[in-house]
Amino acid sequence: MPRYSLVVNATPRLVDASPDMPLLWVLRDLLGLTGAKYGCGIGVCGACTVREGATTLRSCQLTIGEAAGRSFVTIEGLESAGGSAIQRAWLDADVAHCGYCQPGMLLEASALLESRTPPDDAAIEQALDAHLCRCGSYPRIRLALKRAIELRRAGKP
Ligand code: FES
Ligand code: FES
Repeated sequence: MPRYSLVVNATPRLVDASPDMPLLWVLRDLLGLTGAKYGCGIGVCGACTVREGATTLRSCQLTIGEAAGRSFVTIEGLESAGGSAIQRAWLDADVAHCGYCQPGMLLEASALLESRTPPDDAAIEQALDAHLCRCGSYPRIRLALKRAIELRRAGKP
């Protein structure tokens, strides 16, 4: 079985896997990082979202063969990757219900904060549209995002 190297949460990792194993299974089953969730498996729900730099991707849709040599952030590494403001805002707004969609939502929100300064309402809506939350936490997520923008504006990362 081939061996692949990748970086997860700033730590180099080696995994032995079939080339077509989805990154989501690598994270969960081989590396023990269970923050990314399996929801739909077809790229539409966002539960498996991870970050690559300032963008997000669906880890159920990327094979380890494609992911090799690249660097990813999962929810377990979000704080170290500059996610303190978004995490604090999430708690302030008491966002989470069941929590299943929340790792993906938080990573999407943090990527949004990284890529635009500050994101406008249209960008926030577009980001939320890409994720399914069966608990309907969207209004609180909007509030949390606005709060995180304020925290960043006040110089709190
Ligand atoms: S599990 Fe990957 S998008 Fe739903
Ligand atoms: S908080 Fe339950 S699915 Fe979003």
